[in-house]
Amino acid sequence: MSRVGVIGLGYVGLTTAVGLARLGHQVVGYDINESRVKSLSQGQSPIHEDGLEDWIGKCIADKSLSFTSDSAEFADAECDFLFICVATPQDKDGAADLSVVFNVAQQVAAFALPDSVIVVKSTVPVGTGAKIKEIIGRPDVQVASNPEFLREGTALLDFMEPDRIVVGAQSDSVSHKVLQLYSKISSPKVATSIESAELTKYAANAYLAMRLTFANDIAELSARSGAKVDDVLITMGLDKRIGPSFLKPGPGWGGSCFPKDTKALVLVASEFGVNLPLVSATVKSNEAAFVRAAESIAELCGGSLRGKTIAVWGLSFKAGTDDTRDSPALAIIEVLIGKGATVRAYDPIASAPTLEGLVQSHSAIEAAQGADALAVLTEWSEFTSEDPDLVAAAMKNAAVFDGRRILPKDWRTSFSSFRALGE
Ligand code: UDX
Repeated sequence: MSRVGVIGLGYVGLTTAVGLARLGHQVVGYDINESRVKSLSQGQSPIHEDGLEDWIGKCIADKSLSFTSDSAEFADAECDFLFICVATPQDKDGAADLSVVFNVAQQVAAFALPDSVIVVKSTVPVGTGAKIKEIIGRPDVQVASNPEFLREGTALLDFMEPDRIVVGAQSDSVSHKVLQLYSKISSPKVATSIESAELTKYAANAYLAMRLTFANDIAELSARSGAKVDDVLITMGLDKRIGPSFLKPGPGWGGSCFPKDTKALVLVASEFGVNLPLVSATVKSNEAAFVRAAESIAELCGGSLRGKTIAVWGLSFKAGTDDTRDSPALAIIEVLIGKGATVRAYDPIASAPTLEGLVQSHSAIEAAQGADALAVLTEWSEFTSEDPDLVAAAMKNAAVFDGRRILPKDWRTSFSSFRALGE
């Protein structure tokens, strides 16, 4: 059992804190946000994540997990490992803004125990760990990189049963010390350099984003050429060298990681004098996918969106989360509004941002009422159990765009116009 401090209690920090407590460690989570810490201490999760709130309650009850917003109390916790899990948002140029990470590094330098390890879990560009080591400036304190590969919606599962765990440090003994925290997890473990661990995270995200863009572009080509998109992509994925996952076409990818990490990778590569044209093209092509989806919706309305009311089902960037950061649904809604439409959107849990021309509905059927077209932009399974006849009857014009390819076959007959992405 080790004593672990986790700094930053967002998606990554909270999942890490709960996961490490479940692995038998004594964990204290720290965040400057007092109200977040207060509700966490009462067992309430600030984010919607499957199973997280239950586990917060259990770990508080067995005293393996506590939270504080008091920096002196956190410093007194005498942790063997301090995990940095603060956000690295995009700065105005698209690079990762590391100011919070560096700030935290400066603070922990003052109280870290001799022989303790500062573990960077925040997604940081290659070369950041070395800078953090410099900021900490203590030969008795080590720095390690242990990037996360958590998907929102399945974050706890991904923590407990990851495909791999990678830890980078200046020496193998430090990497192994950090890997020891995960000894109860049987997944493959890789001990490497800080730079390799840092770059692995960006390379993995950029590769997945590239793969999705490839699938989305092939979906568009299928639509125009008469090929069957599912047959093409599923058959492609049957090749063991390719594999089936992350080939499901959609109206573009989004979320809190792929958009910012692809852009940051292109920028950090250029600092090293390396061009990454595949990643740059992926970002551009994804933006084009949003416009393409809006054009498909416009076609269902006779070509023009001016004065039209569009019902949108789904606001979150994918199903299973209330997160709307860089959501494809919102990007498409903005294009629709920009072209003169009014949007009525419904999402089972996500909230609509304040946007002129966008109104949030309380139910799927309410959103569809009197609409000129319906667009399904997030793959919530509950949409598939709506009665297509009732939805079609509620609309002014029974036209639907299935941007996630989730609607059952009978929807095709209930609507006068039906268009699925890739067809
Ligand atoms: C991602 C990575 O998967 C995770 O390893 C990393 O640490 C953080 O970023 P997340 O942002 O939670 O996780 O979302 P993910 O499930 O990867 O989906 C990203 C986007 O791709 C979503 O917009 C999703 O709808 C889209 N997607 C995903 C598809 O369109 N088709 C697919 O087959 C899979």
